[in-house]
Amino acid sequence: MKGKTTEEFDNRIKKGFWALMLFVAYVIVMAICYLAFFMHAKELLLYTGNVPLNYGHIIGFTLLVMLLFIFFGIYVFAVARDVLVSRRKICALLSCLIISFSLMVLLMKTVGRNEVLGNNSVFLAPLALCTMLVALLIDRRLALFSNVIVVMIFFLVENLFGELFDALAFYPLVCGVLVGVVANYRINKATRRTDYVLIGLYTGLLSAAVALTVYALYNNGFVIEQMLYSALYALCSGILSTFLFFVLVPLLEWVFNIVSDMRLAELNSSNQPLLKKLMREAPGTYHHCITVANYAEACASAIGADPFLARCAGLYHDIGKLKEPVYFVENQNDVNPHDDLTPEVSVMTIKRHTMYGLQIANEFRLPKEVKQAIVEHHGTMPIYFFLAKAQKLTEGKVNEGEYSYNGSTPSNKISAIVMIADACEAALKSLKKEDSGEAINIVDKIVTDRLNRGQFNSCDITMKELDTIKKTIISTFVGIKHERIKYPGQK
Ligand SMILES: [Fe+2]
Ligand SMILES: [Fe+2]
Repeated sequence: MKGKTTEEFDNRIKKGFWALMLFVAYVIVMAICYLAFFMHAKELLLYTGNVPLNYGHIIGFTLLVMLLFIFFGIYVFAVARDVLVSRRKICALLSCLIISFSLMVLLMKTVGRNEVLGNNSVFLAPLALCTMLVALLIDRRLALFSNVIVVMIFFLVENLFGELFDALAFYPLVCGVLVGVVANYRINKATRRTDYVLIGLYTGLLSAAVALTVYALYNNGFVIEQMLYSALYALCSGILSTFLFFVLVPLLEWVFNIVSDMRLAELNSSNQPLLKKLMREAPGTYHHCITVANYAEACASAIGADPFLARCAGLYHDIGKLKEPVYFVENQNDVNPHDDLTPEVSVMTIKRHTMYGLQIANEFRLPKEVKQAIVEHHGTMPIYFFLAKAQKLTEGKVNEGEYSYNGSTPSNKISAIVMIADACEAALKSLKKEDSGEAINIVDKIVTDRLNRGQFNSCDITMKELDTIKKTIISTFVGIKHERIKYPGQK
């Protein structure tokens, strides 16, 4: 367990940082609003009764937006407190809000205008964009409410400072909430790129339907040309949301080093250059990593952790072995270089694969969680083989610490899963399906040994989850070692 004082200090810093970020976002949103306001200062009239805009309106608007931001902060704290732990996620969340809002304003003021619609060009605003970005990059629980905040501010800005009057002013509010619900629901099921394109199509069709219906409330009555244009623009806004989503996701992932399901799918693909390099230069390690990834994915699913992330961490956990593959048993054929080395030197060569792994991970900008698994998957465990060899040579006068990994212990569930899966893969490799009784004892021993050595003290994994992981490893082991179907004539 971490020291209580340090934890409290960390929490205070995180809360302070969160408050600061919220304030910065508020200032940026207000700056954009006022910029829009001053650009149209001459035409500023409140649509209700043509009352000229005064300071009272501006103060009221400022306080209202501040209230929305405070309420949003409380909501995030209540619903997704884990997001507050990550500064990258907080910054990315606020960036999603600001970018979505800015794009709505920008598109409305530029390409959204045309001769038929005139200044009432709100229909091209990408109202589903914020939901999609937040759901994929930050947290699905926050996606809908983030969209509601953005469309509410957009509605207020357009209503007070903009050129949207009459019933059309309600279009972004009504449509923004509806497309947010649809996008949030569909994005939970999206696994392929075509699924995201379909979200754009569905939200576009819904927007077109809403655009047509608001004309029933519009004072100008039914002008067919305007209705058709607005429906067409609204349809395009859905498709535009998806297009902007595809452009912004890799950009935001890169800037904030955030891992999304889309990026994980890319990293988990066997076409990844780094995995191909591992396959060519350290084939034994490559196959070990594939099996560890299978175990880790199954375990993460079983305890409710992210299975894609666990798979990714499993695939890349030993990437550091690329530097000196021949020192690792899985890549050796007849020659073992450790035969000519003292146990001390052997241990040094083995230990440094985690440090090399981190270097390679930094070079390839692997996600932070994967880097943690690379550094933490051995924790501070002894390297038993060389410890025993050294003890034999020195008649037991060995400092165990010198023959142990000097990384840090797992700080999260994914690292803990990879640690267990890694040790179990190596130990279970030579067993057959019939040896499942022995496999249960081995897995139990591996987990108990790590528990006794305090390897899970820095992460929030529970005994119940460790038990589920043990059971899942055994069932996956039985699945991996399933009987091969013998073809006629095959021994
Ligand atoms: Fe390793
Ligand atoms: Fe490994």
